[in-house]
Amino acid sequence: MANGLDDVVAADTVLSDVDGAGGHLTIRGHSLTELAGHWRYGQVVRLLFDGFFDELPGDAELERAIGKARVEVFERLQPMLGQLAPLDIYSAMRAGIALLPDGEELADALRLVAAPTVLTPALLRLTRGEKPVAPDARAGHAADMLRMLGGPSSPALAKALDTYLVTVCDHGLNASTFATRVVASTQAGLTSAILAGLGALKGPLHGGAPGPVIEMLDAIEASGDAAAWLSDEIARGERIMGFGHRIYRVRDPRADVLKAVVRRLGTRSETGSRLAFAETVEQAALEVLKVAKPQRSIQTNVEFYTALLLEAAGFPKEAFSNVFAAGRVAGWIAHAREQQATGRLIRPQSRYVGPVPDLVA
Ligand code: ACO
Repeated sequence: MANGLDDVVAADTVLSDVDGAGGHLTIRGHSLTELAGHWRYGQVVRLLFDGFFDELPGDAELERAIGKARVEVFERLQPMLGQLAPLDIYSAMRAGIALLPDGEELADALRLVAAPTVLTPALLRLTRGEKPVAPDARAGHAADMLRMLGGPSSPALAKALDTYLVTVCDHGLNASTFATRVVASTQAGLTSAILAGLGALKGPLHGGAPGPVIEMLDAIEASGDAAAWLSDEIARGERIMGFGHRIYRVRDPRADVLKAVVRRLGTRSETGSRLAFAETVEQAALEVLKVAKPQRSIQTNVEFYTALLLEAAGFPKEAFSNVFAAGRVAGWIAHAREQQATGRLIRPQSRYVGPVPDLVA
């Protein structure tokens, strides 16, 4: 029995393929490097949704429809935002999404695509004592998220965030996508399926890692000795955040895509010096992990440079998983539809290893 379902194939999919030995990610017939930085997030949403929604329009119309969905989500949920804001930012976003209709139509899907992008800046602003900013239906998806957040904003930053959303849009049968498919297989609505994905994404072994990456970088900077700090962590049985992966035995290709994005944001700026420091920490971590876990090839994963990119884009570390969800939601929806189309309930077996009752003759 595979305890973590390692190597178990639980679905046929046309959506994405993770080649863990070669370090390649394919999304619907396109390599990650072909998409990231070249396709806009709205175009990738269309690519993922193609064939799963009958009335799917072309790229430009779909991007306009996503813009309208952002406005609709804001108008629907604005009256409740004040009650959600005292929760931690991830729980508040999840609670807001839970209030959306649990339908199956394209309009339901687009509201779900829009929701993390709209809710995250609105809730962050409320926690800072500021009024939420309404979405602009005509703006680009990532550019609008930065505009609503109200921090640093430029075409370069919007492009960086858009590339991030594309980079994390789908990734095989990861924990949150599997959770989404399990719920979708019961023919529950899309909102229910996405809530399952959100629950799984939150954990630090999955999408909750980039916030702790920032904490690690800050702690190492304060300690002044990366190798010693990292070795102490391993000796205490802790995991180094942003490293290791269930499938990749080589470097996660998303790490290099995101690192290049951060590099483009500025070599002489604050981001540039943060990147240079992170590179020395990465090198030290890879060496420490090689010595401490020689039996396992532990490499840099997507979360390490996610942390730097989202920090540069002006998001506080508590909201990093929200932004991850803003990208991954498109993949979750496509997987939910793909699973529903099979008509097959996911229902594996467990092996009972508990005490046996006395059988009365
Ligand atoms: N730091 C230290 N040790 C590690 C790490 C790490 N980051 N990753 C794996 N290991 C060690 C384990 O302690 C274990 O050592 P042992 O055999 O001495 O007990 C060995 O490697 C194998 O561990 P598994 O849990 O079987 O490895 P798996 O490949 O299933 O783990 C995981 C994958 C959970 C992502 C792990 O690498 C990890 O915890 N990483 C840190 C958290 C992180 O960055 N998560 C984001 C992942 S990317 C994503 O989900 C979007």
